[in-house]
Amino acid sequence: MSWWTVIIFLAVAHAGVRANNVPANVPESEHPADIHRSGRFFPFYTIGRIANVPCTSPSGLSGTCLIAGECRDNGGLASGSCSTRTNQAVCCVYTQSCGGSTNLNSTYFTNAGYPGPYNGGGTCTFTVTPSSGICQLRIDFRTLSLEQPTGDGACNNDRLTITGGSPAVVPLCGENTGQHVYLNFVGGGAITIRVATNGGVSFNRLWNMELSQIACASAERAPVGCLQYYTETSGEISSFNYGLGANPALTAVGTRGSRQLANTNYGICIRPAGGRCSVTYSLPTTDRYAFTVTGDASAIDPAMVGSGAVGATGALCTTDYIIIPNPTGGGSDRFCGLGIDPVTSASTRPFVLYTVTNGNETPDVANRGFRLVYDQNACAAV
Ligand SMILES: *[C@@H]1O[C@H](CO)[C@@H](O)[C@H](O)[C@H]1NC(C)=O
Repeated sequence: MSWWTVIIFLAVAHAGVRANNVPANVPESEHPADIHRSGRFFPFYTIGRIANVPCTSPSGLSGTCLIAGECRDNGGLASGSCSTRTNQAVCCVYTQSCGGSTNLNSTYFTNAGYPGPYNGGGTCTFTVTPSSGICQLRIDFRTLSLEQPTGDGACNNDRLTITGGSPAVVPLCGENTGQHVYLNFVGGGAITIRVATNGGVSFNRLWNMELSQIACASAERAPVGCLQYYTETSGEISSFNYGLGANPALTAVGTRGSRQLANTNYGICIRPAGGRCSVTYSLPTTDRYAFTVTGDASAIDPAMVGSGAVGATGALCTTDYIIIPNPTGGGSDRFCGLGIDPVTSASTRPFVLYTVTNGNETPDVANRGFRLVYDQNACAAV
């Protein structure tokens, strides 16, 4: 290599030991002429990984703005152009499927044959190893459609398991498009995502998971205890596999099945926006079954379902329930049953809601779980 290549290498290596959040800084070495010179024998541009400028592809995928050669060497696909200090950059999108692994940010893990469905059995795993300075993995289920659980809430035919991170995630199945989870890497170890499907059950499985690495120093890091973390002033949260239709599977005793997954226990957090001191949870106006957590939703008068009158609180909630800390007006923070009136919760930061289901969803006939609209409220004037 030429003498000045060595100098640039040293400069890049030096830059690499600075903090991870150093602003995007594309080394001079990414000039196309230099690529040619360094060739494939010494692709030193992968060393200065500070140049991880995010970009968005024309189809809306998250990518990393890189020179075409580095994108190719990393196994990525150039998807549109983007600007760094050089004008030769491409928006590099990484997509991998079964058996893959990565330590690169913004990688998509898809089913075999994606964007087509996978209707077969077996296991498909993907491993994410943290780069230095990375503490969390955010998994966005841009698409996640697996077979429904049994009517009793068990993911027996298809199951997505995520191991190696914390907090623990229960096996997931059913419809989870749009959901996400945050996991901490533990001791620099990898997180493994595994999808197991039962080939004896015909179903068009489809998944596309966006895997984002979050730096330890990042403001985007989810607080402790938050499996899910929402950062908007208002939005919607829902339980895993919440959906508008019922679960077509029957319970063990032949009644209509529940969409709720069994054995869940996790926190859903909301980042307090500036000047907001409490959050109000309410049901979407268009979805009466949006809080069907315990009891028989098939037996109740459809005009009643969703109202607080058919909900329950406190000691009546022992199997499946949500906890909304510090509800204004006092009263219990536990809610279950077949309806809920709007609840405002103050004090804890981040705002948090906990959800718990036990191992027995059989009595919870035709339940769907919950889907709540949240709105952060302005702090009272003092
Ligand atoms: C990973 O990419 C996302 C955008 O998709 C970005 O917000 C995040 O900061 C990146 N993480 C690192 C460590 O660069």
